[in-house]
Amino acid sequence: MSNRRNFIKKAALGTIGVSTVNTWSSTFVSDQTSNLASSKKKPVIISTWNHGFEANDKALSELNIGKTALEAIVSGVGVCEADPNNRSVGYGGLPDREGKVTLDACIMDHNSNCGSVSFLQEIKHPIAVAKKVLIDTPHVMLSGKGAQDFAISNGFLKENLLTPESKKDWKQWLIKSKYEPVINMENHDTISMLILDGNGDLFGGCTTSGAAWKMHGRVGDSPIIGAGLFLDNDVGAAAATGLGEAVIRTAGSAMVVELMRQGKSPLESCKEIVERIYNKHRNSKDLNYLQVGFIAVNKNGDHAGYSLRSGFNYAIYDDENGNRMEDSQFKMSWNN
Ligand code: GLY
Repeated sequence: MSNRRNFIKKAALGTIGVSTVNTWSSTFVSDQTSNLASSKKKPVIISTWNHGFEANDKALSELNIGKTALEAIVSGVGVCEADPNNRSVGYGGLPDREGKVTLDACIMDHNSNCGSVSFLQEIKHPIAVAKKVLIDTPHVMLSGKGAQDFAISNGFLKENLLTPESKKDWKQWLIKSKYEPVINMENHDTISMLILDGNGDLFGGCTTSGAAWKMHGRVGDSPIIGAGLFLDNDVGAAAATGLGEAVIRTAGSAMVVELMRQGKSPLESCKEIVERIYNKHRNSKDLNYLQVGFIAVNKNGDHAGYSLRSGFNYAIYDDENGNRMEDSQFKMSWNN
């Protein structure tokens, strides 16, 4: 353990200063670069669902005081993680079948550095731990007890995340214990955020408590780079919301970015992958409760959201129109 701590300490020291070379790979970890210093353009910030609105506001205020886009993502989606009334993210998130709140998150920067945590328990801000994984370790993903140990060794507090309200809902669910993943509750699910910053660089993050009443140990798409989140700084960024299993099966966010690379618009790209997911599930009973949605932004700041079912919306901030909600286009309503 002490070796591990020393290793982590050394890792942390290695990132002090401006744009330090990451000693574990040839990529750069540029979290320390101030966004303010070299801003040329205004940022574009796009986040899933209604809760994306306050997340965007927070992220923007962080960028405006010179914080990096990675820091802005951590603070922005962190608002949702800390909100006990948000039942699909962080503190207050609905638990698994055993009454445990287990959290998934990941974050990615413009140099393809990634950090991720999955099946993390009793830590309120998984996105901040994911950022620590990105900055301070040679790895991309830490899971379960290892992720929790890493968080605690970095000063994160261990706390009970099961609120009385979520516990009550779980007890109610236990009466029938009918397993059907619950997605898209009350207009929220995963919070995914994409930022095109003032330097024209792309960043992204997502965080969730996952599907309610999931099997203990289940991990969704949100901590998986390529599924819940992907970006290529030459092309664009994409992130997912909805039933993680369906997104993982199609490497959803990576595919959206690849379609943008081929010249498709963010909307065309999101739509094509939603169609692909629909085609793979159309003969499955999962279709009854299936919802997936993607947000995407390209290097020009063009953005879109598209979902399988009606009801998905996203928050978008740009300089021209400020922060607002937009309804996504969708393939079918819930009645189909
Ligand atoms: N998209 C959230 C999950 O399936 O876990």
